[in-house]
Amino acid sequence: MNTIITHILTRRSVRSFTEEQIRDEDLDLILQAATLAPNGMNQEPWHFTAIQDPETLRKLEEKVDGTADSFFYHAPTLILVSIEIGNAYEKEDTACAMTNMMQAAHALGLGSVWCNRINHDPKLGVQLSSFGVPEGYKVTGTLAVGYPKGAYPSPRIPKQGTITYIRS
Ligand SMILES: Cc1cc2nc3c(=O)[nH]c(=O)nc-3n(C[C@H](O)[C@H](O)[C@H](O)COP(=O)(O)O)c2cc1C
Repeated sequence: MNTIITHILTRRSVRSFTEEQIRDEDLDLILQAATLAPNGMNQEPWHFTAIQDPETLRKLEEKVDGTADSFFYHAPTLILVSIEIGNAYEKEDTACAMTNMMQAAHALGLGSVWCNRINHDPKLGVQLSSFGVPEGYKVTGTLAVGYPKGAYPSPRIPKQGTITYIRS
């Protein structure tokens, strides 16, 4: 089968990571995939902040959770997607960029998972300038990336009845 289709059909969310950091060239490819995602009216209203510094990740965890829990499953790399505040396509553009990054990560043998905590908190999403999010932007998606610990999850069996064909 076509490689891209195979990757789309086998990608899963990964929630357990080794401590090994991902390679710089892989991070660059994942971010390149993000910047080339389709976006409303080609405004590219986004910014991508890749955090790999353990101390910064620890501080972010503390700010978000206020506990020792890791909302990003202790992944070694966390990518914050932020969008210019007020952009009409913030949700759509975020989803396209996140999907491109998840697929790129999978194609490179990495695991990833969308971590909802920041983008679900309207106050928090606009308070992260000290974490590399530009002023005037809000965090709309967060992706944990790393090498999967243990076996990669099996392909998901999708819900039935979600497709309608109308053919002549
Ligand atoms: C908008 C969105 C938010 C998500 N938030 C979280 C999250 O906060 N934590 C988490 O572990 N997974 C999160 N996920 C991953 C979903 O749980 C996962 O995609 C879904 O269960 C399907 O599994 P799969 O990705 O392995 O196919 C999120 C996914 C999306 C698209």
